[in-house]
Amino acid sequence: MAQAQHKVIQDNLTLEERVQHYIDTQANLDLLRFITCGSVDDGKSTLIGRMLYEAQLVFEDQVTTLQQDSKKVGTQGGDIDFALLVDGLAAEREQGITIDVAYRFFSTDHRKFIVADTPGHEQYTRNMVTGASTADVAVILVDASAGLLTQTRRHSFITSLLGIKHVVLAVNKMDLVDYDREVFDQIVADYHEFAKQLKFESICAIPLSALKGDNVIERSTRTHWYSGPTLLGYLETVDIRQQQADAPFRFPVQWVNRPSADFRGFAGTVVAGQIHPGDTVRVLPSGEVAQVKEIVLYQDYLDSAQAGQAVTLTLDKEVDISRGDVIVAADSPCEVSDQFDASLVWMDQEEGYLGRSYWLMLGTTRINATLSDIKFSYNINTLEELSANSFALNDIGRVTLSFDRAVPFEAYADCPELGSFVLVDRYTHATVGAGMINYALRRAKNIHRHSHNVDKAARAALNGHPGKVLWMTGLSGSGKSTVANAVEQALHAQGKRTFILDGDNVRHGLNKDLGFTDADRVENIRRTAEVAKLMVEAGLIVITAFISPFRSERDMARSLFEEDEFVEIYLDVPLDVAESRDPKGLYRKARSGELPHFTGIDSPYEAPETAEIVLPTNNLSLEECVQRVLKHV
Ligand code: ADX
Repeated sequence: MAQAQHKVIQDNLTLEERVQHYIDTQANLDLLRFITCGSVDDGKSTLIGRMLYEAQLVFEDQVTTLQQDSKKVGTQGGDIDFALLVDGLAAEREQGITIDVAYRFFSTDHRKFIVADTPGHEQYTRNMVTGASTADVAVILVDASAGLLTQTRRHSFITSLLGIKHVVLAVNKMDLVDYDREVFDQIVADYHEFAKQLKFESICAIPLSALKGDNVIERSTRTHWYSGPTLLGYLETVDIRQQQADAPFRFPVQWVNRPSADFRGFAGTVVAGQIHPGDTVRVLPSGEVAQVKEIVLYQDYLDSAQAGQAVTLTLDKEVDISRGDVIVAADSPCEVSDQFDASLVWMDQEEGYLGRSYWLMLGTTRINATLSDIKFSYNINTLEELSANSFALNDIGRVTLSFDRAVPFEAYADCPELGSFVLVDRYTHATVGAGMINYALRRAKNIHRHSHNVDKAARAALNGHPGKVLWMTGLSGSGKSTVANAVEQALHAQGKRTFILDGDNVRHGLNKDLGFTDADRVENIRRTAEVAKLMVEAGLIVITAFISPFRSERDMARSLFEEDEFVEIYLDVPLDVAESRDPKGLYRKARSGELPHFTGIDSPYEAPETAEIVLPTNNLSLEECVQRVLKHV
């Protein structure tokens, strides 16, 4: 249909007229972004293929023409148009997401479309969240012969969390059920029952066969009982206008542009509202107020800039601004906080643990964030709230995240750009989660630290030495307790104030509620590190003897201290050596299956890469180990 009309127009015009016609019509068309969500076998690729079949042929044709002829016509029409289409995606790349999402572009006479095609089986939520983060409509595929699946519900739930208001329930493979109306009606009824808990504005259910082409572009004669739109018909007409033109101005600073001493501009994209020269703005988190002097775009000075435009702002006075700051309307600033309630979708094979720290990418900034509470995770089929202390692949839940500094933000519902984030593993740099901020938590704000007159330095002066942590890590049986004991004796003999925190002992008291799951070990180390910190404040040399198997938590512990206060000591022995020592008979039990989650057997140990001291205790005498440690103190 669309193809035919294009062809007619094209045939009657000269090349230049055709190009101009294309630019004109395309420029006036609005843009719909949509995502298709489906499980492996429910025919997603066929559907997209079918839908693009006509439109994309035309499109590719024209792109080639535009590329060849844009110089001749004296316009960069093709390029500019393309850049516009790709624009919204730049923000995602900015957030460091490298995910397998193919964006396809096509257009009909009514609209331009970007469809996020999210292949991948295992990691489908990750792809889906990425693809859906800018979508207006979600097309949720269901195999008519299989009915609603857990994945259908999961995709729908994520769609709703992401704030997508319009859903197409595409009941595909109707040919396999003989275009039976009852099958369709039952699936639609089941879906409505589930979706009433979600916040969709509209659900349009369409019986389809992507394979045979029923109701994709052409209306099918085999579903005479269906009077609704075809899929393309729906996508061409669905009303997605919900622009809040009066939203307050928001401008996350991407970089500070300082080509010469007399020009200092702040480059970024307006994510909400608009701005004019002379407007009064506030810079967050500092709160400083200034007036916009110019809005610069390449060589031009603009009278205004709107949401979606990438520009450079200059201000009427020197203000200290750096990447990640947000310039906002002075009279309606956004909030600034360091603790949030957020909805989180977990996307990594490696579980997410309560108490673990991650990098969090929000707007244009990177923050250290700790998963400080897991309020619940959802049972996806019933949306029941379950208690949890870790997140597995594809889990969705509500969490508290604590940052190491306050940042400007907005609730996702008010401004997705300043309210959505991704979590990144600090070591592998994999994107492990995506989330949406619900609201800031005030708790941290109302608890103030007291400063006392006798401080760490005063205590160090009295002791004659500063406080320190000697953090020993290694397999069970690597010699941590033995070395810790000998080091303490030596230090004590020198008149130093010391204390040993030993895993076996601390687990009898403070940590007696913890076992040996990964989540419990994370919490074990978090508490121990906090206790060690208090002891260092008190002026002691603390020697810790914990397996502390995870790099993340050892680094978290390190981050609590000054640089020269934390000494990581790796007791490096091969597993077979530790196992042959087996001082407590635990390896034997672990091997026989009596002791699950035993480090080195069926629970991992991540060896340190940058320990200050490495002690191969199978090649060194105890005395040599002690000497190496003492050299550091
Ligand atoms: S950690 O992994 O959380 O740092 P921690 O050092 O506190 O462990 O405790 C380890 C000690 O607990 C071991 O030395 C051993 O005596 C005992 N233990 C009991 N069960 C296990 C287990 N499943 N894995 C490792 N150690 C265990």
